[in-house]
Amino acid sequence: MVQTEEVDTTEAFRRQQVAEINGSAGEREELEKRHGEVWSNDEVRSVFEFESFAAPFAIAAIGHLLGSKESDYDKIYRASSDLALAFTGQIGEQRERIEGGLAVLNSYADDLIAEHRRHPAADLVSDLIAVEEGGDRLSESELRMLITILIFGGLDTTQCQFACAIAVFAEHPDQWELLAAHPDLAPGATEEILRYEPAGAGAPRRAVTDFAFEGLDFHEGDVVFPSTMAANRDPRVFKNADTFDITRPRGATQLTFGGGFHYCLGAALARAELEEALPVLAQRLVGLGPAGQAEWRKLATIRGPEFLPVSFNR
Ligand code: HEM
Repeated sequence: MVQTEEVDTTEAFRRQQVAEINGSAGEREELEKRHGEVWSNDEVRSVFEFESFAAPFAIAAIGHLLGSKESDYDKIYRASSDLALAFTGQIGEQRERIEGGLAVLNSYADDLIAEHRRHPAADLVSDLIAVEEGGDRLSESELRMLITILIFGGLDTTQCQFACAIAVFAEHPDQWELLAAHPDLAPGATEEILRYEPAGAGAPRRAVTDFAFEGLDFHEGDVVFPSTMAANRDPRVFKNADTFDITRPRGATQLTFGGGFHYCLGAALARAELEEALPVLAQRLVGLGPAGQAEWRKLATIRGPEFLPVSFNR
């Protein structure tokens, strides 16, 4: 009844990457290596601002996935951050930066495609090109758009989700200690953080026909914004829904990655990143707690603290 675009881009992505990401030792080793690099950075102090700290995790994972050069990380991170303004209440005043960020990402996607056409490899971009060249599922402009969405979708969301996680754990020291003592709780902790403090507020849809739901009338063309945040706290689905509990028995799935045709393509990668990083952080940031007033993004569909000062015992 409600839909966005009718372009099925999932097959190319799923063909190899999701399976690989969601459990391959190689990817996990890479993430672990990246975390180690970030940790050995002397700038990390016992009181620091977490949101910018989370960025290198996200950029390394998506850069690795796309075969980007590390020297390009900074450029694509900046462009992605500018584009992220489109998901806040500042579209009018920030239009120039938003369009500039999109232009940089599109041109970067073009370069990546051209490079992979010249030198195909066993990687995601080459796989997507093969689907595009196969002709019937992915056009050239869809291919470019998909790579741009992958970069953007993989960066801002994951960075925000890390920051949401740290904000919540800083307020729940017992849960943080539990995770440090039992790293095997990481998958449950990840699901719980995605449920309790999601980086995504909802998954918009456009009505393709008139319909009524729960006494409300919707008309063809209406944009509907179902709140997955509210659904994640539905007491009919989650017992003690307002309690943050990483040992919560896993029954119903949280809806933070949306659902149906447009279900998040990067859900497996985002989960792998969080599952990998959270127990490592829990063991290193002993005594994590707030160190001042956090500032959260305002009116944003991709949400999280923009400024998150925390402290820990080193
Ligand atoms: C915690 C991190 C993330 C969150 C909260 C998140 C959330 C979402 C949501 C809510 C949607 C829309 C789903 C719908 O409309 O039903 C979505 C779509 C998408 N996400 Fe993510 N995402 C995350 C990480 C990622 C990552 C790491 C990538 C890339 C590797 C990614 C790539 C995409 C793409 C390409 C789509 C569009 C799918 C389509 O329209 O068919 N996301 N994501």
